[in-house]
Amino acid sequence: MQRSTRPPLSDQARCTPIGLALYYFTYSTFLGRPTLYLEDLFVLPAERGNGAGRALLRALAKIAVRSGCGRMEWAVLDWNTPSIRFCRKLGAKLRREWILTRLAGAPLRRLARGRER
Ligand SMILES: CC(C)(COP(=O)(O)OP(=O)(O)OC[C@H]1O[C@@H](n2cnc3c(N)ncnc32)[C@H](O)[C@@H]1OP(=O)(O)O)[C@@H](O)C(=O)NCCC(=O)NCCS
Repeated sequence: MQRSTRPPLSDQARCTPIGLALYYFTYSTFLGRPTLYLEDLFVLPAERGNGAGRALLRALAKIAVRSGCGRMEWAVLDWNTPSIRFCRKLGAKLRREWILTRLAGAPLRRLARGRER
């Protein structure tokens, strides 16, 4: 997402980035279709509230539909009330029954070595 500082809008060299959406595809065996996974979404604080976040997610929704995805998914921290409100505004549902599961550091290395006990 970029804000034009001078016309013409199509001149990329004169645009300043104001946000980003980083995504990749995973796969839902339940749906038998790919999932667009949103890894990171960020709009500069001074640019928030002007539709940039919605525009980024709309662009991703178009990619998801075009790519035959059954869904888009991302994680939001439970204390991040502004982002939760933003997600709900877009029609996204919070799936609180799913627990983000992470294996890292020593436990990860132990499992890789085959000596997790
Ligand atoms: C979350 C974030 C991307 C929203 O971007 P944004 O450009 O401010 O969002 P938009 O202006 O496109 O808002 C879209 C809708 O969400 C609503 N919304 C956005 N921020 C909101 C907030 N803090 N509280 C309530 N509603 C909010 C807007 O009112 C708008 O609804 P409307 O069109 O009915 O008026 C931005 O606040 C951000 O970068 N936050 C920090 C990073 C972060 O938390 N990322 C995780 C995102 S899941």
